Amino acid sequence: MSATHVDSIDLHSTARYVEHGYPWAEWDHYRSEAPIYWYERDDIAPFWSITRHADILEVSRRADVFVNSRRLRLQTIQEDEQQELGRRLRAESQGWDLDEPPDFIFMDDPRHRKFRLIPARRFTPAALRKLEGHFRELAERFAGELVTELEATRDGGESCDFVRAFAQKLPLAAIGEMMGLPPDDWMHLKRLTNVMIGAPEPEFIGADESATDARVRAYHEMSEYMIRLSRERKGLGETEDLSSLIIHGQVDGQPLTEQQVQGYLFVILAAGNETTQNAISGGVSALLAHPDECARLCENPELVPSAVEEILRWTSPVVQFARTAAVDTEISGTRIRAGEDVGMWYPSANRDEEVFDDPYRFDIARAPNHHLAFGGFGAHFCLGANLARWELRAALRALLPILPRMVAAGPIERVPNLHVSAIHRMPVRCE
Ligand code: HEM
Repeated sequence: MSATHVDSIDLHSTARYVEHGYPWAEWDHYRSEAPIYWYERDDIAPFWSITRHADILEVSRRADVFVNSRRLRLQTIQEDEQQELGRRLRAESQGWDLDEPPDFIFMDDPRHRKFRLIPARRFTPAALRKLEGHFRELAERFAGELVTELEATRDGGESCDFVRAFAQKLPLAAIGEMMGLPPDDWMHLKRLTNVMIGAPEPEFIGADESATDARVRAYHEMSEYMIRLSRERKGLGETEDLSSLIIHGQVDGQPLTEQQVQGYLFVILAAGNETTQNAISGGVSALLAHPDECARLCENPELVPSAVEEILRWTSPVVQFARTAAVDTEISGTRIRAGEDVGMWYPSANRDEEVFDDPYRFDIARAPNHHLAFGGFGAHFCLGANLARWELRAALRALLPILPRMVAAGPIERVPNLHVSAIHRMPVRCE
């Protein structure tokens, strides 16, 4: 890799992520040769590629200069166009305001902060600590179901899919309950979000339907669901669940519009599902691949909290977010002009040798561990970080008795997605 010029190293091809996982060696090369690099390729709008921990922190913290409202994620020009078309069609069919951002992540302060605060009291450490016992009960129930599936693999020599058998369940149940959604709807909503990120869902996607058409249909159905929920719940008076807080939320003394409510409900449902599920799958995959660390954890359950932080660093479930410079500025001496975009590669920051000793060592007791899996501590820092942490701790604790008997039973299958790591299938079996 050292003789290769970064101009010939591709970071945005999702085929590469599907076939080989994250481009770790490529990010290493960028960090050492071109940490702030003007990335220009045919099929993606140009951007400054940011790969070092310190620079991602700086961009994230200067939210007044690097804004969210113009380009939130890196995706191909084709995906940009599809997204814009879908947005326009939905706006036309609902009579919505096209200038209104899809959700509050696309907003900048001070407006962003006002929206973010609406459900924030349900995401504080104190509020979530109260749910710890309940998350543990749920995780233990799901672990019991996993054992049943694993036992069935013993005789037939077959494998079971860890994603469906365990990893997807707790994040879905936790957010479904917190939002007060009927349990019968959870799987359908999960399927819709899967289709949106490009996962094969034979139960949803018709035989003659293209993935793009299915994605547009999934967005439409999700939007319809959230509108229905908002209308039904509006008449029922205020309760403490997340949906109610959002549906009855106000900004500057004005109630949110139906358009704003459905975007908000969708982002709360979707933001934590795939990410936490991937941290669970990726974390267990890392433990199975590092039997010494796995045994150390099983013998020392008090290491669960630090193991969770290492799993977050190791798996980095969010690949990137983008920003746009609102004014001429610079990052570590590189001039960035107003209107230019920057893309922050979080997994790269989480292997930065300037910050982490021996970054490619998986160490469940690593301390300090200043990973950026939840972002760079700016205005948009992950709202669900505390929730995700409690879910991951509960999941790991419930898996401790099972891990020593579990083995990987084939390669991980990933979905082509440049935003989240998206492990779709992870075969495991019982020894
Ligand atoms: C392991 C799990 C998770 C990871 C790795 C993760 C990662 C991230 C990252 C990297 C950001 C962007 C931060 C920035 O721009 O500075 C973010 C934002 C966000 N996350 Fe998470 N997240 C996770 C779980 C959750 C959960 C469970 C929720 C629950 C609702 C959630 C809700 C959000 C929201 C609403 C934002 C946008 C915040 C804003 O713009 O103010 N996330 N997350």
